[in-house]
Order: sequence, then C-alpha cells, then structure tokens
Amino acid sequence: MDNLKIGFIGAGNMARSLIGGLIASDFPANNIYASDPDALQLQTLNDDFGIQINPENQYTVDHCDVVVLAVKPQILKPVCQALTCRRDSLYLSIAAGIPTTAIGNWLGEKMDNGSLAIIRAMPNTPALLLTGATALYANAHTRDEQRESAEAILRAVGLAIWVDDEAQMDAVTAVSGSGPAYYFLFMEAMISAARQMGLSEANARLLTVQTAFGAAKMALEIDEEPAHLRQNVTSPGGTTERAIQTFQQGGLEKLVNEALTAAQTRAHELAEELGK
Ligand SMILES: NC(=O)c1ccc[n+]([C@@H]2O[C@H](COP(=O)([O-])OP(=O)(O)OC[C@H]3O[C@@H](n4cnc5c(N)ncnc54)[C@H](OP(=O)(O)O)[C@@H]3O)[C@@H](O)[C@H]2O)c1
Repeated sequence: MDNLKIGFIGAGNMARSLIGGLIASDFPANNIYASDPDALQLQTLNDDFGIQINPENQYTVDHCDVVVLAVKPQILKPVCQALTCRRDSLYLSIAAGIPTTAIGNWLGEKMDNGSLAIIRAMPNTPALLLTGATALYANAHTRDEQRESAEAILRAVGLAIWVDDEAQMDAVTAVSGSGPAYYFLFMEAMISAARQMGLSEANARLLTVQTAFGAAKMALEIDEEPAHLRQNVTSPGGTTERAIQTFQQGGLEKLVNEALTAAQTRAHELAEELGK
C-alpha cells in the first residue's frame, strides 16, 4: 500500500478529508496527488499535507495507480470523458448515485474496450470528521489488491463495509448516506420539546447532543443489540417506558420504514438520471 500512488480528481471537502485520513494513517504524502481547477484549493492542500498537486486531471491519471473521482456527481460525466485512462489503474468514485457501468462507459470512451476496474463508494458527511460510514461496491474487473486499497482509503475516514449487489447502494444511501440528517431532525425535535419544558436553548442543545453521542457510543461499544440496550434503561412503570409507548402508539417504526423506503426510491431515480 505504501508504494501505491493515489490521486484525487477534485480537491474539495471530501478529498481533503480522505487525504487527511491517509496522512494520519502514515501514508506517504509524496505518493498522494490531487488536481482541481481551483489553484488556491490545491495550494492549501500542498501547504497542509505536502502532497503533489497539478491543475490538470490527466496528470493525476498518468501518475497514479488509484484515481479517486471526487467531483460533484453533476460534472462527473464530462470530467471522465476528458480523461485518457491507464488500463491497470483502479478508478474509485465517491460521487453519490452514479452507477459503475456509467462511469466505465464514460472513462472507456477513449479506449478500444472498456474493462476498467471501478469501485463505487458511498461515504457520508461525518467522514469529514473521520467518523464516516461508507459502503463500497466493486465491479467484476477489480482485483483483490485494488479492493484492499479502496477499503484502506475509506477506512482512513471511518467505517467501511462492502455490498455485493450494486442495487443495495440505494439502500445504503437511504440508511447511512441520508442518515445523519434523520438524527439531526430527531435532535431538533428533542431540543424544541426541552425548550417547551422550560430548559434554556444552550442546556437543551447540550443535553440532547451529548445524549445522542452517549447512546451511539454505547450501541457501538457494548456488545448488545440496540433493543436490549433500550430495555435495560426502560423500567416498568417508569418515565422512559411512558415515552417509548407514546412513540410506538404514534407509529414511529412505520414512519421510519416509510421514510427510508422513500429515500431508497429517490436514490434509484437519481442513479437513473445521473447515469445517462
Ligand atoms: N461531502 C460529503 O459529505 C459527501 C458525502 C458523500 C458523497 N460525497 C461525494 O463526494 C464528491 C465530492 O463532494 P465534496 O463535498 O468534496 O464536493 P466539493 O467540496 O464541491 O469538491 C469538489 C471539487 O471538485 C472541483 N472541481 C470542479 N470541476 C472540476 C474539474 N473539472 N476537475 C477537477 N475538479 C473539479 C471543485 O472545484 P470548484 O469548487 O472550483 O468547483 C471542488 O474543489 C461528490 O461527488 C459527492 O457526491 C460527498
């Protein structure tokens, strides 16, 4: 992995996080490349991490074994179509929603036949703070060592898991891609309720956010199902039980199911639109 050259096409927020994660995992800065039309963005990355920078995307493709496609989904098609690809490289897309076949077709336009190794990753926003949750899908042309490299890159910014069926990426989008916003919404509702009970804005926010953090840490670090952790803190006839009954009578589970299914459907629609 240390001899690998990893290049980023697009040097925005997500590229910066991944580069920061790689450097923090002792990956050599000299083997990291980035290109972006924004010279200031590139220079800042060079100042902060000492990586190789160049405004030309083709320069990154020509020098790297792994090319991370880190531009916005809406411009991925022209960016890919402009590149002349190295056949042996891995192309790792973090662009939300774009299917590997579309990326393969766009990248392969200048090649006689397109059998490129392409991995699609779906990270989420907490990756910016190295606490992301990413799912990866590899196409049939990807070699084992390329899968390992992609996993190591995404693991530098949090959890990374694999799915075998690309269609599952729509479910991933609904769960972890959009998921942070669901928890923020729940926090908003709790803060608002706490305010109505007379707590100050600052106290309502601190108690709500720290409680979410503590509950997530317990669910991650204690080897028990969330249902069991919940039962442990729900005494018969107590306050938690009264609140949980209210959630259940209000149809919380059904609502969550409907919300995630709606997100999954939208992810599927977007993948079809963006992949054209
Ligand atoms: N941020 C997240 O939490 C998150 C989560 C999941 C997936 N993603 C995916 O990650 C990708 C990057 O997101 P981001 O948040 O890092 O976006 P971003 O901050 O806007 O970064 C994209 C970068 O690409 C640059 N760029 C524009 N045109 C380019 C070109 N022709 N060649 C090379 N670079 C070009 C942009 O420069 P300008 O600013 O000058 O246009 C910008 O620096 C997106 O596809 C997104 O779907 C992001």
